[in-house]
Amino acid sequence: MSNSQPAPSQAPPPFEPSIEKLSELSNSIQASLAQYASASTPQEKASSLKAIQALSTRLSTATSPIQQRFMDLNSRPYLNVTIRLALSLSLFEALPPSGSITLTALTTLLPTCTPEFLFRLLRVLSAFEILTITYPPPSHHLHISHTPLSLFLLSPAAKASFLNHFEILLPAHLASIPGYFHKHGFQSPVDPKNVPFTFAHGTVDEDFFDLLVKDSEKLALFNDAMTIMAVLGLKPLGGLYPFDRLVENEEGVALVDVGGGKGQMLRVIGEAWPGMRGRLCLQDLQVVLDGGVVVDSEVRLVAYDFFKEVQPIKGSNYFFKSIFHDWPDNACLKILSNLAPAMRGYPHSKLLICELVLPDQHPEPTKVIRDITMLVIGGSERNLTQWDALLKKAGFKILNVYGAGGENSSIIEAVLDE
Ligand SMILES: C[S@@+](CC[C@H](N)C(=O)[O-])C[C@H]1O[C@@H](n2cnc3c(N)ncnc32)[C@H](O)[C@@H]1O
Repeated sequence: MSNSQPAPSQAPPPFEPSIEKLSELSNSIQASLAQYASASTPQEKASSLKAIQALSTRLSTATSPIQQRFMDLNSRPYLNVTIRLALSLSLFEALPPSGSITLTALTTLLPTCTPEFLFRLLRVLSAFEILTITYPPPSHHLHISHTPLSLFLLSPAAKASFLNHFEILLPAHLASIPGYFHKHGFQSPVDPKNVPFTFAHGTVDEDFFDLLVKDSEKLALFNDAMTIMAVLGLKPLGGLYPFDRLVENEEGVALVDVGGGKGQMLRVIGEAWPGMRGRLCLQDLQVVLDGGVVVDSEVRLVAYDFFKEVQPIKGSNYFFKSIFHDWPDNACLKILSNLAPAMRGYPHSKLLICELVLPDQHPEPTKVIRDITMLVIGGSERNLTQWDALLKKAGFKILNVYGAGGENSSIIEAVLDE
């Protein structure tokens, strides 16, 4: 049998995409465009835009020679390097919020940077549409202006989120591959104290959060990064679930946000459901609560470690947002086993999990890649089948999934299967 794989030095075949295929994609884009134009609800508009985007990506792929796709792949991380340099320089802050600035004027605002170096960064940022470069008459000198994305990068939450990936997660990915997997096998980590992140830090008895709380600078950056969702769209999540229907416990607590960070989600829930105010409780590690919260004084603050203690607030409802994706299944089972006793005997008591629920088939690239992000700390992004299996194993059953297939997180409503 002959080996049909091309020899390593063999160039890809000439690139001639089929006209029929391209026309088909282009016609589908036109059809989605018409749907967008006639859409009457925000949901319809969003879904037709999504369709245009997915089809445009397919059209772009279909028109890109392998050489170009390969070069794109290799060059992808360097755009982030360029943005990191821009952040170090406070380049985006130096640009006028509207209108443009010349390169000469911008250089005077950034005295640590030479014009030549600045030009190198600007050229890349403009090519990737992070900034805009124009050469307006009469002088035809280079002018730089913001795009919506560079304006977005001015927000502290966006900056923190970018830096969290670039400074905390990505370096650990790079330092642990391939060493970690060669040592432990190419399989999902099972012990949160033995994950690529801990491997990269040379530790054996601490998990990601243990390491984080020991580094006040990184902890602050991580917690600030978590507030990105408040910018990107926590508000729709606040309205996604009928929080006002939750039954409060004997102490008047209707919702406990477990691992709620600074309370960013509780703030949104309190705004969306004013009747919930005064009935909310925020739990996180003591060190996180000590770092400051964004909720008002009506919200009860309770330091709680979900691995070490059984949930101390009984018979309430428990909200976990972006918690389980941080941990391997067995750690999630431990968190759930510490929750179950607080819900046992309270049939109204609900477990609400606010997380990405990947579709079982054909997840979108921007969503599914988050699974690899989480891999470094031993976490994972789960699809509905995986959520169902995990919760069943912990003795819970799913009642409903609110916002399934939506833009970002969904809310899984579950109860103890007693
Ligand atoms: C990914 S963040 C999510 C924060 C918040 N729920 C949100 O969605 O913005 C994970 C949170 O879990 C908290 N956490 C980590 N380990 C914990 C533990 N053992 N007990 C309680 N909270 C913990 C962290 O401090 C952090 O606030």
